[in-house]
Amino acid sequence: MIEFKEVSLIYPDKTQALYDVNLCIGQGELVYITGPSGAGKTSMLKLIMGMEIPTVGSVSVFDKKVRHSGTRTIRRIRRKIGPVFQEFKLIKGRTSLENVIMGMRFLKITPKQMKLQAHEALEKVGLAHKKYSKVENLSWGEAQRVAIARAVARKPSLILADEPTGNLDYDNAVNILELLKSFRNDNTTVIITTHATHLIKDEKDATFIRINNGRVTAERGWTE
Ligand SMILES: Nc1ncnc2c1ncn2[C@@H]1O[C@H](COP(=O)(O)OP(=O)(O)OP(=O)(O)O)[C@@H](O)[C@H]1O
Ligand SMILES: [Mg+2]
Repeated sequence: MIEFKEVSLIYPDKTQALYDVNLCIGQGELVYITGPSGAGKTSMLKLIMGMEIPTVGSVSVFDKKVRHSGTRTIRRIRRKIGPVFQEFKLIKGRTSLENVIMGMRFLKITPKQMKLQAHEALEKVGLAHKKYSKVENLSWGEAQRVAIARAVARKPSLILADEPTGNLDYDNAVNILELLKSFRNDNTTVIITTHATHLIKDEKDATFIRINNGRVTAERGWTE
């Protein structure tokens, strides 16, 4: 479903973020991308979302090649993705509910359906009681849950969560990971980046991709 073929990414200021990355991720997989700060985790997610285009090699998502930014292919791909960004990107001055609804604005569904899905998603993340709170008044962990609700309300085929546990304490961090994992099913792939590998419990059937200085250094499924 996602394929990186000999991908290198060099930013305009000549920083090389990724070197010759090859990988394949199938539908319904749970994938952890781990590695230290600056390793290239966010860069990998940006490539999957078409926010960056590979300098060398190719990236395919949902079996479509991501070639140029701003194309119809990328818009189609993005419609099926629920992103949870490292810095949330919630809109201040708006409530949790409004933020979740705004996350659906480019989907081809009615406003009534959007509201329904938003309420459902906020319930799933345990934040029904904060629906009408302005996002700037939420705790870090609550804001993260709103960001997750905004992603899952879109009913995505692919959830991308970038460093979702941030600076949360151990219990809350584990809860966030459990919550994200709960959305994985046969039709929904979940990709989580994190440097906090100590939070990842015994994962029977997850795929781990370890990245260091822009290079994939290890890749394994627990079942191998
Ligand atoms: N827009 C950009 N322009 C130039 N260099 C960039 C840009 N974005 C990222 N980089 C550089 O690319 C490398 C990889 O960055 P990236 O954000 O992918 O790392 P990361 O693994 O997500 O780190 P963190 O755990 O701190 O979020 C770093 O050296 C970073 O400074
Ligand atoms: Mg990052």
